[in-house]
Amino acid sequence: MFDAIRDDIRTVMERDPAARSRFEVLLSYPGVHALALHRVANGLWRRGWLTSARFVSHLARFLTGIEIHPAAKFGRGVFIDHGMGIVVGETAEIGNNVSLLQGVTLGGTSTRREKRHPTLRDNVTVGAGAKIIGAITVGENSRVGAGSVVVRDVPPNAVVVGVPGRVTSKDGQRVGGIDMNMTDLPDPVSRAIEQLVEKIHGLEADLDSLRKQLERSGIQDKEEAP
Ligand SMILES: CC(C)(COP(=O)(O)OP(=O)(O)OC[C@H]1O[C@@H](n2cnc3c(N)ncnc32)[C@H](O)[C@@H]1OP(=O)(O)O)[C@@H](O)C(=O)NCCC(=O)NCCS
Repeated sequence: MFDAIRDDIRTVMERDPAARSRFEVLLSYPGVHALALHRVANGLWRRGWLTSARFVSHLARFLTGIEIHPAAKFGRGVFIDHGMGIVVGETAEIGNNVSLLQGVTLGGTSTRREKRHPTLRDNVTVGAGAKIIGAITVGENSRVGAGSVVVRDVPPNAVVVGVPGRVTSKDGQRVGGIDMNMTDLPDPVSRAIEQLVEKIHGLEADLDSLRKQLERSGIQDKEEAP
């Protein structure tokens, strides 16, 4: 337990340029407190003390603003920066040296008791406010941009940004936005544009037929004129 806390403090010192001393980190980093309490909760959970585990996790949330289900699996060297608003679901799995910034959600999409939360492989960084939802996997060394919503697997060594999340870089090379098969997601802006285009086509057809009627009646008028 103490070794793990020492590791957590070392991780913060390595990854947060604002951290000035180990003592300061121990006293004032909610991410360190949340991880320590999660280890207690997880230990109770694995021993079958489910309600006590949930209570410790609830206490951790009250103290730190970070909500981690006791069953969630964490590797070593995880860095939780700022923390407030982070939610980690029951079947989430977090690898080694992962960084989670403020407001990250590792959430589920299913209401069944099955693997329904994401797996983050080693060295993944998730930017502030990003939402990763469903039983998807974010590959090793990938980075998820602040505010992104990721609902499909992310390959290793990639950068994903946007809503829905799209790969903008892979193995250090810029890519034009790999299609992550997200065309089934509703896009209200493009839908509104499609409806406007349909309307314009309809109006053009009406205008054409009116013009033709006018032309015909004009010819008739001329023919009838003395
Ligand atoms: C996603 C991220 C890791 C990318 O970093 P990077 O590889 O250096 O990429 P760049 O900054 O060169 O940006 C590449 C492109 O993605 C866009 N982009 C970057 N981050 C974005 C984001 N979060 N959402 C949408 N687009 C983003 C940039 O505008 C740029 O677009 P362009 O090519 O059209 O100009 C980084 O921008 C990020 O979001 N980090 C999280 C930081 C954070 O949460 N800090 C809070 C601490 S509490």
